[in-house]
Amino acid sequence: MGALGHVSLVIRRADVAEIRPLRHAVLRPGQPDEDSVYAGDDTAVHVGAWDGEALVGCATVFADPWSGSPAATGGDWQEVPAEPAAWRLRGMAVDPGRQGDGVGARVLTVVVDVAREAGAPLMWANARSAVLGFYLGSGWLVAGPEFITPDTGLPHIPVVLPLG
Ligand SMILES: CC(C)(COP(=O)(O)OP(=O)(O)OC[C@H]1O[C@@H](n2cnc3c(N)ncnc32)[C@H](O)[C@@H]1OP(=O)(O)O)[C@@H](O)C(=O)NCCC(=O)NCCS
Repeated sequence: MGALGHVSLVIRRADVAEIRPLRHAVLRPGQPDEDSVYAGDDTAVHVGAWDGEALVGCATVFADPWSGSPAATGGDWQEVPAEPAAWRLRGMAVDPGRQGDGVGARVLTVVVDVAREAGAPLMWANARSAVLGFYLGSGWLVAGPEFITPDTGLPHIPVVLPLG
């Protein structure tokens, strides 16, 4: 895909049934389908990016308090205090054939706007360590130590985006 391959993208809110297959294929390949069902999916805001009939990117956001960073003594992260009105980002995924072409950045911009318009003062996510640069490049901050999520076995790093 060329550098302008995403020009015709349509990015819009979606039903979870529309985006869950891509979420699953990118983030839980080979795992049971139910592993891609998130608590709160029924009331979350889901966003998809379509190139014609093909869904090429998706993400999900919903109200979920940020519990606050652990003390950073000796750790390399910002101490971001608890925020009960925060929103969380999950399921950020781009079709492997379209990664690195700006799709993810465009979807991320839309879901951040959704949370901001809902009045969220802060967004948070558990970023896969392998793609931390995707978030840091968009202004997100490391807000806690790396840990392994049991459902993936992969290292993750808590990240936040102040929306003030
Ligand atoms: C991570 C992901 C959502 C990024 O989407 P994308 O469409 O590939 O990213 P974009 O092309 O929009 O990149 C936007 C910026 O992030 C950077 N970026 C993208 N992936 C990166 C990575 N793995 N590491 C570091 N930086 C990355 C790009 O270089 C680009 O920077 P620039 O604006 O300076 O050019 C996508 O690659 C993906 O689905 N990966 C597999 C699943 C995954 O890890 N999801 C996130 C779980 S937390």
